[in-house]
Order: sequence, then C-alpha cells, then structure tokens
Amino acid sequence: MKDSDFLVPWDKDNVTVNHTEILVLGSGIAGLFTAMKLSEKYEVTILTKKHISEGNTEHAQGGIAVALNQDDSPEFHYGDTIFAGAGLCNLEAVKILAEKGPECVRELINLGTQFDRHDNDELDFTKEAAHSRKRVLHAKGDATGGEIERALVEVVRSKPIIVKENYYVIDLLKNIKDEVAGVLALNQESLKIEAWLARAVVIATGGLGQLYKHTTNPEVATGDGMAAAYRAGAELMDMEFIQFHPTALMLPGAPSFLISEAARGEGAKLLNFRGERFMKDIPGQELAPRDVVARAIWEQMKNGPVYLDFTCLERPHERFPKIYGKCLEYGIDIATTPVPVGPAAHYMMGGIRVNNEGETNLANLYACGECACNGVHGANRLASNSLLDGLVFATIITEKLKDDASPLSAWDDIKLYENDKEYAQKASLDIEKVRREIKDIMWEKAGIIRKKEGLNQAYARLEKLYEEYLPSPEVFDLEVGNMITLGLIIVKTAMEREESRGGHYRSDFPFANKHMQKHSVIKRGDDHVRYVSV
Ligand code: SIN
Repeated sequence: MKDSDFLVPWDKDNVTVNHTEILVLGSGIAGLFTAMKLSEKYEVTILTKKHISEGNTEHAQGGIAVALNQDDSPEFHYGDTIFAGAGLCNLEAVKILAEKGPECVRELINLGTQFDRHDNDELDFTKEAAHSRKRVLHAKGDATGGEIERALVEVVRSKPIIVKENYYVIDLLKNIKDEVAGVLALNQESLKIEAWLARAVVIATGGLGQLYKHTTNPEVATGDGMAAAYRAGAELMDMEFIQFHPTALMLPGAPSFLISEAARGEGAKLLNFRGERFMKDIPGQELAPRDVVARAIWEQMKNGPVYLDFTCLERPHERFPKIYGKCLEYGIDIATTPVPVGPAAHYMMGGIRVNNEGETNLANLYACGECACNGVHGANRLASNSLLDGLVFATIITEKLKDDASPLSAWDDIKLYENDKEYAQKASLDIEKVRREIKDIMWEKAGIIRKKEGLNQAYARLEKLYEEYLPSPEVFDLEVGNMITLGLIIVKTAMEREESRGGHYRSDFPFANKHMQKHSVIKRGDDHVRYVSV
C-alpha cells in the first residue's frame, strides 16, 4: 500500500503554533481520567473532535465490570476475561485490570458517579455473557456510560484543564530525533490547521465502528487516532479482531441502537422468526460469548428476522429505560412485543500497540482505552470490561508520566516529512458514496464471517480507493481517508490470519490453529503482518 506521512499536505509557515505540557486526544472515560489525574502536575489540554461528551463512553449501556461483589474476587474476574479472550489475552494486563479495577471504580464513585443500588444502599450488580458472577455495575438502568461521562466531565470542568472541543486531530508531529512532539489539528470553527506541541501525547480517541454498515458506535468513531498513530510509525496490534455485538436494533430506517447484553443477563430470550429459542441447546445459551451469539443470530437471519424477547422480565421499562424509550420511538413496547435485533460492529479489540504502562513504540506517545491494544481483551472482549480498561490503564499512564515527561520540542526541530498526495479544495471522489461503499465492503467482506475471496476483493477495492482519494480540508473527507487506511489494515490482518478465533471468524479456516496463538503486529512500510508471542 502506497502511503503518506501526513493525511494532508501542510506548510510549516502557515500554521498557528500552540504549546501545552500534556495533550490528551479524546474525551471518553480514558481521556477524561488521564486528563484529570495529570492535571495535578501538568498543564493539560484535551483536544476532542466534537462536544466533550460525544463518544462511545456516553453510549455505553450495560455497565462496568468489577470484582466488588461479595461472592466475587479479582481471580474470578481474571479467569472469565481470559476464557472469553480465546487464547490471546496478555495475562499480566488482565491481572492488572482485575486487581486494580476495584480501587479505580471506588475512585469513580468518590468522584460522584451514581451507580444503581438496592434499597439497602448496596451496589446492584448484574450478569452479562461469559461472566461467572454478577459483577456488572450499572447506572440509571441502562445509561451507565452517560452517568460516568457526566461525572467525569463535571470533574474535568472544575479543574484548570484546557478543553478544546471541535478540534479534529489530523496527524502526529515528530521532532528531528523522531520523538512525538505534538499534533496537527483542524480547528473546526476557524477552519485553520493548528500545531499543538506537548511534552507527551496520550491518544484516547476510541474505536472505529463507523467502518461498518451496521454499528452501535456513534458517528465520531472513525478510528482517527489509530490511523494518525500508524502514519507516524506506531505499531498496531490485533487489528483483525472486531467484536460484533449480537443485539442491535434491526429495523429498516432505524439506527443500529444497542440493545444491551444486560437484557439477556436479566433473562431476555432470543427467538427466531418461528418464535423458537435457538440458543437453548448451545452452551451458555443466550449468555454464550458474544462471537458465538452473534454468529448464531447471523445464521438465523438467513431465514428471517430474529427477536429479543423482554416480555418475560418484570417491569423491563424500569430496568432498561433507554432501550424502552428508543424502541417506543419505533412503535415497539418492549414490555409486550419482542424487539427485532441483529449483530453490529461494536468494539475494536486491536489498536495502537502499547505495553502494560501504555507506552507505544514511539517516544512520548501513549495510548489508552479502545484505540489502544495491550492484549487485555485477547481475541474477544469480556462484556463490560471496556470502561474498566479505560479507567485502569489511564491511571497507569498517569503514574508513569508523573515522573517521566520529556521537555517540549522547539518548533524549529519539528520535521516536515513527505506527503505524496495533492491537496484538493474539493473532494476528489463522491465522498459520501465512498464512505457508504467502505461500510458495505467491510460489512460484507470483513465482517462477522470472512473468507479468502471476499477479503481479497475488499483489499483490491480499498487499495483502488486509496489511490484515487485526495484529501480536502473537511472532517467528513479526512475521516474517509482514515477509514480507507484502517479498512486496508483490518482486511490485510484478517487475510493473513488463517484460522478462526474470538471475533475473527474465517469460514475457510473454521477452527483455531495453535500455531496462530499470537498477536498480529503491523507497522507502516511492512509488507507482511508480523506475529509476536502472547
Ligand atoms: C452492552 O450493554 O451490551 C454493552 C456492554 C459492553 O460492550 O461491554
């Protein structure tokens, strides 16, 4: 794949240069927690693409998994996470997640997050797929992410943290020593490109569900942080492992709104178009691992619609008010009528390769949250571990950075490296059409069930789009550039992994291969995917 150092050409004399100590990119749970903690020592600036609250955290429903219940322990949480991860979990990272989780969640509670409680004030835990215990905390029924985001935004707003909304980070900047020194960002109000120099950059820009036709992710989830890191030379790991959530609302004209797994945790049942409970004889039933449930639904959908039946639950509208409200908008009362559902792209297990301290292979560059990958989720994330991942590994980065930030780079030392693309004032392609095409290709050929021919076709088409694409200074168009880059990476890593494991299923290689029990790593300029031990 032919590629450039920067998504857009730019001119060193024509950008405003800003300085701060720490730049945090993104404002979900991982970004806000990092910013909050580092603001005790540094001047911190958050750059975020839209409004501070817009992102995957805000939309998370089911909850946050943590071993705080009486009959639970970090050892049980560790075991369940590893089992779900299908042989690809980084055991040390899972241990950190399970053991450090309780103290991080207590801190979240102390910061004002209101999780749901029983009448006696004890925390209410629910169960989700592949958890051996009830360990998922939730808030306002099914609005957990929104409540966490509310509490953290309030804390961040009360501190001297600079928050720049509507800043689209285009690329990372490096100095002559090849260390990360800041970013190039499009100020969406002035429409000018600005440089931001910092002692360290923490990427917490979330996932890339928007690469797929059906996704539970909001519009902003186009993987920009991963793509920018890749262009700058960061390694990406396990990019073939996308988690497809089994149950998103599936109605013509309706968004793929998440129908939380907590619903199945509380007893909702999956029915096929004949009204049969098709998960009944599969180990784990409705609470089998997500990839198993998603594929079972996919198979059933070949014959007709699949439904999630809440009618056996008592007062489902009280436990799931968000789902209730959304379904009602489309004329479905969950208390009386089964909801049509289907799988949708939900979570990226892969991402910017980091060690257990959040460091990338580039000096001064850190990553946490969904855009990062230290192997904690393996090939298939355990439900509700993502918010906890954001909290725990953000905390670890801040512990690392407290003693360790490099000095700021001088503007003269910033490298202006190659861009082999022209700059178009207007999109070179019909960009809306291209965006739709990418989503269709990824869904059809690199989605829930993959095989060699489809992946080859997807790669050839995306490569052609990459060659024809000329950047123009609009966020929508810049996102498409990143979507093509990441689509190529997902497809390439999926082609080279000739086995099935967790979120990656190949119908031409339907079993796991013990020789492939390795992480895939890809870096710009590599012809082939590398594999490293778990
Ligand atoms: C859900 O509520 O089903 C989503 C939880 C998760 O993805 O961890």
